[in-house]
Amino acid sequence: MTQLRAVKGMNDVLPDQIGRWHRIERTFARTMSLHGFREVRTPFLEPTPLFVRTVGETTDIVEKEMYTFEHHGESLTLRPEGTAGAARAYVEHNVHAAEPMTRWWYAGPMFRAERPQRGRYRQFYQLGAEVFGDEGPGCEAEVIDLLLRFLQDLSIPGVRVVINSLGGGATRLRYRQALVEHLTPLLDSLSHDSQRRLRTNPLRILDSKDERDQTAALGAPTIDAFLDDGDRAHFESLRKYLDALGTTYTVEKRLVRGLDYYTRTLFEITGAQEKLGAGSTLVGGGRYDSMVADLGGPQVPAFGFAAGIERLLIASEFEVASNVIDALVAPLGSEAATVGLGLARDLRREGIRCEVDTRGKSLRSQLRRADALGARIVLIVGDKEIAEGVVQVKDLDAHSEERMPITQAVRVVIDRCVAASRNVDSRPSADFARNS
Ligand code: HAM
Repeated sequence: MTQLRAVKGMNDVLPDQIGRWHRIERTFARTMSLHGFREVRTPFLEPTPLFVRTVGETTDIVEKEMYTFEHHGESLTLRPEGTAGAARAYVEHNVHAAEPMTRWWYAGPMFRAERPQRGRYRQFYQLGAEVFGDEGPGCEAEVIDLLLRFLQDLSIPGVRVVINSLGGGATRLRYRQALVEHLTPLLDSLSHDSQRRLRTNPLRILDSKDERDQTAALGAPTIDAFLDDGDRAHFESLRKYLDALGTTYTVEKRLVRGLDYYTRTLFEITGAQEKLGAGSTLVGGGRYDSMVADLGGPQVPAFGFAAGIERLLIASEFEVASNVIDALVAPLGSEAATVGLGLARDLRREGIRCEVDTRGKSLRSQLRRADALGARIVLIVGDKEIAEGVVQVKDLDAHSEERMPITQAVRVVIDRCVAASRNVDSRPSADFARNS
């Protein structure tokens, strides 16, 4: 039989790796909750026109990277990103009528048929957030600042923020025209894709990784010269907020990003360049003031970001405790197994993670298992112990062993294990509080 393998670019996350995922997800959930954001969950499948209308018909994502299929005559797409679904849900549930400002966060898998490489996958996980109903740059600065603290909590080195303004719709039209005028004489030197983009979506050329396009774009006009007074005031105000918060950032006039829905502020955060190389963008985001109205809702401004969990995992330098259980109950014999099951139940009620090995194995083999699972304590229950109402408590960390009544043993395990595991669990929040 041929062995079946996972789809290319889609990865299994095995239990040995999940501790680091949990740490990132928990730190994010806590960070967002401290800033008044609430979690939203939207479907993985959405109607294809949702992404065509928002992300943009001529973007790489919509042109070549979506997993799209027909089902009962309807075109459906596995979501390539989370913003469009969040905005659709916001409009569909009339959220604006109930609250003047909405702050949502989300976490989950996204799907893009990109060429897989380190930090770039076809199913990947994003942590994201969207603010609806706040048009000012204050919330943009707050979100960038929040992200820096989040990345700091994950011990990510070399973090850098770049920002730019794309202006509003009218600004972009004027800029597009200027870009076309600059690039048209250079048409033959552009990549095949960009020759087409010059007609369909010239701004995308600035985002191209192809050297020919990058050379042609070198002398191109930059968008800052085209911003109107409102755009300019917005951007200046964002910079003032960031300066006041002590945030270091760079203005990158050629930053355009790969989605068409952005208006005014754009930003990216990179980090751990030596580990991620060209794909070192950890977070991308920006303002998209016309999406809600474009989806049939009222004119509500919006701003948000998303970060790729796999990239955060590669970039981050924290470790998590790898022990699976705190205690192993090791019965020796079938009567002992019955007592052991009851003892384990009592321990779990007290929050102790434990396993009972009821396979009838030797003590030696059970001790090996305790070691493999990272247990600190082994409770040995033998016939002699049962007759005397005691258990043998073997502390693998302290290299000690003593006999004691069962009730006392439960207390000893709680004292030694719960204190230790609470320390591990509270680390992200403690870090956050210290850095705030
Ligand atoms: P994006 O820049 O397309 O923006 O993706 C955001 C982040 O998702 C990237 O910086 C990267 O960390 C991660 N990412 C993207 N594609 C992949 C991939 N193929 N493999 C692994 N990680 C990936 C958005 O998705 C927007 N929805 C962000 C946003 C929210 N803008 C406003 N609100």
